Amino acid sequence: MNHSRLLALSLAVLLVAGCESKPEPNATDGETLFNYYCAGCHKESGKGSFLEGIPANRATTMSESEVTRLIMHGKSNMQDMPSFSHLSEQQARNIAQHLLRRLAKQQ
Ligand code: HEC
Repeated sequence: MNHSRLLALSLAVLLVAGCESKPEPNATDGETLFNYYCAGCHKESGKGSFLEGIPANRATTMSESEVTRLIMHGKSNMQDMPSFSHLSEQQARNIAQHLLRRLAKQQ
């Protein structure tokens, strides 16, 4: 094997290894997606951060379909909550279900 091939090969390995902690762009698991897209602000627990002005979204009174819509399209009266228009409806729904059916039930 010549030098440049070896280099290309190790670069490829590095690239693959570097992406390991991120979910596939087409991941559908609600927990994986929540931890990737939402936890940065709302925390993996969904408790948010009082000091940073991030609400505990697991305590929301919004319904599953409202949260699904909020994720995909945002809401005019929630300016600080980003929307994630690249997610499919299925992905957004799975995130909403993780939030409302799992996190909301935890102490
Ligand atoms: C950049 C930080 C940030 C990220 C990332 C983020 N949010 Fe939010 N979210 C906010 C803020 C700030 C609010 C409060 C907005 C307001 O009241 O104006 C909010 C509000 C909400 C609410 C409404 C809570 C209530 O009071 O009823 C829900 C539900 C919610 N977020 C879910 C999510 C989900 C699901 C994701 C991931 C797809 C997400 N958020 C990602 C910052 C964020």
